[in-house]
Amino acid sequence: MFSNYFNKKTIFATHFLFMSNTEKGYFAHPTAVIDEGCKIGKGTKIWHFSHIMPDCIIGENCNLGQNVVVSPKVVLGNNVKVQNNVSIYTGVICEDDVFLGPSMVFTNVINPRSAVPRRDQYKETLVKKGASIGANATIVCGHTIGKYALIGAGAVVTKDVPDYALVVGNPARQIGWVSEYGHRLQFDEKGIAICPESGQKYQLKDGKVSRIE
Ligand SMILES: CC(C)(COP(=O)(O)OP(=O)(O)OC[C@H]1O[C@@H](n2cnc3c(N)ncnc32)[C@H](O)[C@@H]1OP(=O)(O)O)[C@@H](O)C(=O)NCCC(=O)NCCS
Repeated sequence: MFSNYFNKKTIFATHFLFMSNTEKGYFAHPTAVIDEGCKIGKGTKIWHFSHIMPDCIIGENCNLGQNVVVSPKVVLGNNVKVQNNVSIYTGVICEDDVFLGPSMVFTNVINPRSAVPRRDQYKETLVKKGASIGANATIVCGHTIGKYALIGAGAVVTKDVPDYALVVGNPARQIGWVSEYGHRLQFDEKGIAICPESGQKYQLKDGKVSRIE
């Protein structure tokens, strides 16, 4: 079956690429395809059958699982973790420490029509530092997911998500707040909450959460 997809020349080419990639400081499995013009940071790993398309910028220490597609000109920060079967389309920006759960879905055209080209109408989706997107969630394009927000498994995000917000469901609704370690935050009457794992202190003020210690 393998030979249907990869002839000997391709295997040699990808093997060579693997070796040179390693010398460059990142790892790409021999079955991964890295197109021209990409910048990939040291310590990053790209696994089986993944495709990095032209002119992407991928930071250091990222992990891109199996069957991941990164479309042209996508930008990923440092330490971004991408689980299996995720396509990151042009228009998506993921800042440092973003987690993309297995089979989650980005979009980049709000009103797709097969017969109407919309390549110049891609909408931007910004996923801010430390945010996590659960398995099988869908992010409708043109929205910002705030820093350290947590998107529940299977959620369909149709609007901006505030920093530290926890959202679930279709359409996604906020059911609480989470810490940078991913724990629910219980705010007291003064609007203060402590993360049970890290001890970090948070404040809820004017409907916004920030870390204060
Ligand atoms: C969203 C999430 C973090 C909530 O965890 P939690 O704080 O322990 O929440 P609870 O299990 O106490 O659930 C609270 C309520 O939200 C609901 N809920 C929890 N997760 C939900 C989800 N993904 N979608 C819809 N509703 C959800 C629960 O049914 C419960 O509803 P109820 O109050 O009516 O009974 C978790 O359920 C989740 O989806 N994690 C993502 C897992 C994932 O995709 N990991 C990827 C890497 S493997």
